[in-house]
Amino acid sequence: MEIHNIETLREEHQWILKPIENAIKEIEKLPFYMSMEKINTVAELFPITRQLFHHSVTFPKAIGLMLSTTSVENGYLYKMYSEHAFEEATHHLMLFDWMKKNNGVKEITELFEEKANSATNNCINLGYQLAIERDYELWIVMINLAIERAFLSLFSILNDKVNKLCVGHEYFSIHVVADVGHSLSGLEYLKVLDPKSRKGSFLIKKSLDSLSVWTTMIHSWIDVNLRPHFNNDGLIIKNNILN
Ligand SMILES: [Fe+2]
Ligand SMILES: [Fe+2]
Repeated sequence: MEIHNIETLREEHQWILKPIENAIKEIEKLPFYMSMEKINTVAELFPITRQLFHHSVTFPKAIGLMLSTTSVENGYLYKMYSEHAFEEATHHLMLFDWMKKNNGVKEITELFEEKANSATNNCINLGYQLAIERDYELWIVMINLAIERAFLSLFSILNDKVNKLCVGHEYFSIHVVADVGHSLSGLEYLKVLDPKSRKGSFLIKKSLDSLSVWTTMIHSWIDVNLRPHFNNDGLIIKNNILN
């Protein structure tokens, strides 16, 4: 997609991008981001990255499943899914490489034996569920526009952090660039909607729901049980701290 097109699409789709941006700003004020500021050693990052690994290793599969359940009539979407799956395909190996180099893990099997926790699984399962339901609109708003945007915010912080700790790695730096593209991917297949219309407000709500699930996931990585609820402007209306 050309730059001009991206900018035009970005403007046209403010009806959904704006609430998502608002929600990201809200999420960045929550305890996970506060705790990141206090991290001074690479070892403190491993509980986070060990769970992140499970998201990373399953994501290309969910995208592949989405591609494989797409009807032939919607074959124009193949390229979007296949490019995304290809780009994510080796990220878990990069993350393992970083953890191994910094003595966070010895063998990749250790990570597979540990498994994803239930909050990480809930986020992973959003992708699998959408693939089974074959809902490409929800896929674009929940996975691309919302979750990839949230990961962009996370990776910007993580990339700065690992650089500061002198343990920078391609895994982190690549996401600061790649997730800009991933978080806008699919915009061209979305209709421009009135945010107050039934369909428009439904898609906004679902995108913010997925950010809720994502936020609970990253907080589980620091042992905080939290679930934010957003209004359709992307502002937190209720922030349930569950423990
Ligand atoms: Fe990735
Ligand atoms: Fe991504």
